[in-house]
Amino acid sequence: MKATRVLTGITTSGTPHLGNYVGAIRPAIAASRAAGVESFYFLADYHALIKVDDPARIQRSTLEIAATWIACGLDPERVTFYRQSDIPEIPELTWFLTCVCGKGLLNRAHAYKAAVDKNTEAQQDPDADVTAGLFMYPVLMAADILMFNAHQVPVGRDQIQHIEMARDLASSFNHRYGEHFVLPEALIEDHVATLPGLDGRKMSKSYDNTIPLFAPPEQLQKIIAGIKTDSLAPGEPKTTDGSALFQIYQAFGSVAECDAMRQAYAQGIAWADAKHQLFERINQEISPLRARYEGLMAHPEQLEALLQAGAAKARSMATPMMSRARHAVGLRNLLDLRNSKVSHNAKAHKTALPSFKQYRDADGKFYFKLVDAAGKLLLQSQGYASPQDAGIDVKKLQADPKELANLIGNLNLIVATDSQLEEALNALQQLKDTAA
Ligand code: TRP
Repeated sequence: MKATRVLTGITTSGTPHLGNYVGAIRPAIAASRAAGVESFYFLADYHALIKVDDPARIQRSTLEIAATWIACGLDPERVTFYRQSDIPEIPELTWFLTCVCGKGLLNRAHAYKAAVDKNTEAQQDPDADVTAGLFMYPVLMAADILMFNAHQVPVGRDQIQHIEMARDLASSFNHRYGEHFVLPEALIEDHVATLPGLDGRKMSKSYDNTIPLFAPPEQLQKIIAGIKTDSLAPGEPKTTDGSALFQIYQAFGSVAECDAMRQAYAQGIAWADAKHQLFERINQEISPLRARYEGLMAHPEQLEALLQAGAAKARSMATPMMSRARHAVGLRNLLDLRNSKVSHNAKAHKTALPSFKQYRDADGKFYFKLVDAAGKLLLQSQGYASPQDAGIDVKKLQADPKELANLIGNLNLIVATDSQLEEALNALQQLKDTAA
């Protein structure tokens, strides 16, 4: 069986905190040990340049994040662990994808739109302070993913749109130049809890409420003492509902330990004692990792060597991929006349074919649509529980355009007008004829 390729990038723009550890690092490292998975983890330092203009901070963050992942148990022998900027093929692929990317697609990206909305509201030029880097962010991210033909990309909900764009760019490229890229899927980690920060809101750098993952023990203890609680006195029963302290405890304690803590709350444990127990519990898990982290931070040459080895491994895949992609788009040695017939066909293909697009939406369901060669929507499916279910109906339509009536009858498809129906039928017939 072929392994599932899972790929994630970590932007090198800050210092890892406890929320990153519980929400991303710990589960990702556990997942990387599963059988049948081939994992790719990389330091997204090109992405960091979009947000951070302090060179020292970029370098510092790269060191800290690399040290953190290794200290937390990522096995660089088992996974491919590399730094994005060590792979020159990535910016090259970014350009290829830029050339098949509709500008309108990027206009609709959430992060860019949010910046424009903010400017508009402030009665500024819509693009004030927006760099082309921010605008192009999704294309660079698509190149990261498509380069290694990743099947799954574990991300937070805020990144789903980026994965959809990567799928769109992969299908546009494939449509024009032949099948080169796998269409990736977002893997949404809903079951891992987001950790509250010191003030009870989600732990996040932007709220300035974080607990640094590898703060020295005395500092960790002090920071934990600052977690917001109510003002109930020792001896007064306390409730775990909505208690940030308890939620953080839950991310570390076993079921039995959490039960004991719940009981201690009911029996009126003093906040100072509860905080001390939380410190002890976190420190128990973190202190061996911290020791490794400190060792690595003192030896950047070890991390550098490890990243270089990771880059060599990653490039052993990226270089052949790009050599195929360069050939596909026509950047070729002039003596190389391989496949000139194929490319001729690919061009003829390109002229006017409708296509199916499958994707996952923010509601977590799987959809497909049929668009004409210019990208106009002809058919829109309802949400399916799995990509396979959606795929079955796509296959039916490909095999027999007349299935359209059945699928509409089952309410699996929405067609607004009769003329749309006719256009869709024609498009399906056209697809069938060219496939034959
Ligand atoms: N955009 C991602 C984030 O902010 C980081 C990232 C860059 C990434 N390239 C990626 C994540 C490729 C997954 C795959 O979290």
